[in-house]
Amino acid sequence: MGKPRILSGIQTTGDLHLGNYLGAIRNWVEIHRDYDSFFFMADLHAITVPHDRTQLAANTYEVAAMYLACGIELEHATIFVQSHVPAHAELAWLFNCITPLNWLEDMVQFKEKAIKQSENVSAGLLTYPVLQASDILLYEPDKVPVGEDQKQHLELTRDIAARLNYLFGKEDQPVLKLPEPMIRAAGARVMSLTDGTRKMSKSDPSDLSRINLLDPPDLIQHKIKRCKTDPIRGLVFDDSERPECNNLLNLYMILSNQTKVAVAAECQDMGWGNFKPLLTEATIATLQPIQEKYHAIMADEGYIQSVLKDGREKAGAIANQTLAKVKAALGYSVPL
Ligand code: TYM
Repeated sequence: MGKPRILSGIQTTGDLHLGNYLGAIRNWVEIHRDYDSFFFMADLHAITVPHDRTQLAANTYEVAAMYLACGIELEHATIFVQSHVPAHAELAWLFNCITPLNWLEDMVQFKEKAIKQSENVSAGLLTYPVLQASDILLYEPDKVPVGEDQKQHLELTRDIAARLNYLFGKEDQPVLKLPEPMIRAAGARVMSLTDGTRKMSKSDPSDLSRINLLDPPDLIQHKIKRCKTDPIRGLVFDDSERPECNNLLNLYMILSNQTKVAVAAECQDMGWGNFKPLLTEATIATLQPIQEKYHAIMADEGYIQSVLKDGREKAGAIANQTLAKVKAALGYSVPL
């Protein structure tokens, strides 16, 4: 038997930040050698909000380079671009026609983004999770490693697969396999630096709210110096009255590779003036080697293009097989 499969992706809008790294990429890097791994750049999802056409392709290359810079190895993983595999959009259409509208209207991310955009909300923003279900189910992965905010989208993915199986499969022969979400506790929800009750996000208008993976050391230092804290001395985990304190301690724990017990003991009598330089140092130490590798990879555009060409071929072959299986189950004729 081959290795079990994992698949995950990141939307190619804006710069990747510490939330994307700790909630997703870092976990992929840790586990991907044990799986048949697929990671893609979600560039079809990127146009569900107004986008800059001069940046779309560049953003896709940047995210691919970041996967490699963070430590994804091509012996173990396929890296590809969502829009290079047309089966994603085609399966999404088929899923659109079996997904009840109210399932989509209930999605938290849709509600949040629709409120932010008020006018100009595209139909694509509403059907975004259907495309995500197609991204996943085309590859029939065993597990999908993501951050906490994607949980609802993965539940919907399972619901769509189950509905398709119910409507068009046989009881002992489901059409599609249901994937499991894989959400690791540490780093699953990195919060904003300016408000510990909101998640760190690419779409926050303030750049001070996040640490981008390409921020230079002096900017990281500046952002941590300016980040929101509280006036209480002694830093503790899990005090619901102190969301910023909990977030910053968690970041420090993960970035300095320490246990919760060790960090709790180290920081229990500290003030922010002593703590912030420690967090700054741990953040820079984590990001600097990634940044160096990233710039070396980005300097060789031909290399990234060849990685994506291989990825498209490998991903496309699997995706087309699953698409053909679903179309047959729905009753489509097979072209001669
Ligand atoms: P995206 O691009 O918003 O985020 C990519 C990954 O980063 C995680 N993440 C976070 N984790 C912890 N703390 C945070 N503050 C934080 N912000 C983001 C996300 O949970 C995610 O794992 N719809 C998806 C992209 C997508 C996808 C897919 C993912 C499209 N198709 C199929 C998995 C499988 C998205 O917008 O993620």
